[in-house]
Amino acid sequence: MTNTDSVLLSPIDSFVNRVWMAPLTRSRATMPGNVPNDLMATYYEQRATAGLIIAEATPISPTAHGYYATPGIHTDAQQEAWKEVTDRVHAKGGKIFLQLWHVGRVSSSALQPDNQAPVGPTDVISESKTYIDDSMERHPNTKPRALRSEEIPSIVEDFAAATKRAKAAGFDGVEIHGANSYLLDQFTRDGVNTRTDQYGGSLENRLRFPLMVARAVVEAWGGPSGVGYRISPLSEHKDVRDSDPQATFSALAAGLGALNLEYLHAVETWDRTSLDPRVEAVIPAIVKAFKDAGGKLYIANGDYSPQQAEDAVDSGWADAVAFGRPWIPNPDFPARIALGGPFREPVPETFYGGGPEGYTEFQTLKQEQEAAHS
Ligand SMILES: Cc1cc2nc3c(=O)[nH]c(=O)nc-3n(C[C@H](O)[C@H](O)[C@H](O)COP(=O)(O)O)c2cc1C
Repeated sequence: MTNTDSVLLSPIDSFVNRVWMAPLTRSRATMPGNVPNDLMATYYEQRATAGLIIAEATPISPTAHGYYATPGIHTDAQQEAWKEVTDRVHAKGGKIFLQLWHVGRVSSSALQPDNQAPVGPTDVISESKTYIDDSMERHPNTKPRALRSEEIPSIVEDFAAATKRAKAAGFDGVEIHGANSYLLDQFTRDGVNTRTDQYGGSLENRLRFPLMVARAVVEAWGGPSGVGYRISPLSEHKDVRDSDPQATFSALAAGLGALNLEYLHAVETWDRTSLDPRVEAVIPAIVKAFKDAGGKLYIANGDYSPQQAEDAVDSGWADAVAFGRPWIPNPDFPARIALGGPFREPVPETFYGGGPEGYTEFQTLKQEQEAAHS
């Protein structure tokens, strides 16, 4: 790549480059209380050269939790601690959104208030596993309780309240987590949402709750600029499927576009060496529906190399690319892209839980060079 004229490294709208940091759950919040801490502030501050940091998935209410030690945004202590994180990122010139999360049925009663069952669109148990303490051992999910129709508006209110807390905590925006088989995705896809009320059945009904959330978040934020939405239309992990992803997610994208959201963000794949052949047709159709309706940016994600990301923005496939795993061991990722590398490889064993190891211990190229010359 000739980096002097890299489109990937060029600004878009108010973002200094198109190398964004995808949301990454790292399970290092202080327990009990699921409170962000100084170590987390250091981690995000180190990555402030991203065009946008999308902070890790953050539960919006006590019932929204599905993994141990994930930081929430529903208590005063959490909000104050997030303010320290955003202040430190801003002091380094960075920009940071918070990903708003409700896991739905992907949870264990061990993580729920009063050890209740998690809630979901139906009472069908999720096959995925979760960790419930700092041993980080995986446990089966608990059979969920199907939400009653009249409970839905209170979850919408929880999203709005979390949005207000995120704004008060100094975030530059919020991303609604509609991906990866969590609550909003569970309602969106017909493989799991077999409800017979106004939130299930027809496509219009399945999109009702996700779009209520999007409208409420836009209103709570004070406008659509600063609000994004993440989807994973072709992912089928955690046993959430859809019979027609193109139709379902194009309709959702049109609804989100009509709200003039700042961006739509899609997990296209986790492995480009075995890319689902549907990606090439389905993603552009969804993006077109979003933009035709009034949505602004499309953010691509999923196993992109810097060169593939450059090609994606250069060809117009995407406006920016969010990288996940590459940011973990490369805190100065854009600087490394500008020089053509070197890039360190992430170590999966250190992804979830623990301390600085695999988290804040990585040096920038500049620090490495200074160390070499001293
Ligand atoms: C350790 C880890 C934690 C993740 N946490 C989240 C999360 O909190 N929210 C989310 O939407 N996706 C999450 N993902 C998915 C990533 O954002 C991204 O979609 C995925 O890693 C593929 O992109 P990549 O190939 O650039 O890493 C996570 C992935 C990993 C590896």
